[in-house]
Amino acid sequence: MQVRVIDHPLIQHKLTLIRDVKTGPKEFRELLEEVAMLMAYEITRDLPLETTMIETPVAQCACKVLSGKKISVVPILRAGLGMVNGVLRLIPAAKVGHVGLYRDPETLMPVEYYCKLPSDIAEREIVVIDPMLATGGSSAACIELLKRKGARHIKLMCLVAAPEGIHLVNNQHPDVEIYTAAVDEKLNDHGYIVPGLGDAGDRIFGTK
Ligand code: URA
Repeated sequence: MQVRVIDHPLIQHKLTLIRDVKTGPKEFRELLEEVAMLMAYEITRDLPLETTMIETPVAQCACKVLSGKKISVVPILRAGLGMVNGVLRLIPAAKVGHVGLYRDPETLMPVEYYCKLPSDIAEREIVVIDPMLATGGSSAACIELLKRKGARHIKLMCLVAAPEGIHLVNNQHPDVEIYTAAVDEKLNDHGYIVPGLGDAGDRIFGTK
């Protein structure tokens, strides 16, 4: 099972609050955004740097800046939206694509209903955002779609992952690194992650 669990104490603490059934939508959204920002810090750890000359108030200095690699974040609608702003707070120049997939309640298979991506998607580093990696069907389908559009460098950012979803994405897309704050026990008969946090979209938007 290939997955990077980001186990920073701040992320783990906030994830516990997010999981708690007593946490309402406002706090849930705020915590999710904070965790997304902290995770973005880890996911961007390998971004290339270059050297530039600047002048401080004291002296000239050869300093590091990002070497201009272009990034795009692609949330899977709708729960993925809950992590976008956290990522953008660290990477404000990132372009945002959107992919709409819903899970057929009978087959649990993903069905695509919306796709709007930056035109230069092939040249960008892509971070797909899917907070709940359950069966993995939606993430794998989104990655497949992005690859068909020319994307080559893709990472997958989750909040909670089930072993079933990790295996599916690993098998179908071995080139895609998965980042998550937790790997939970299993899926239940309704496709929910156990213990999980319930329906992430409903908890973000207060629907039920
Ligand atoms: N999607 C969710 O929002 N929660 C789950 O537990 C599984 C899929």
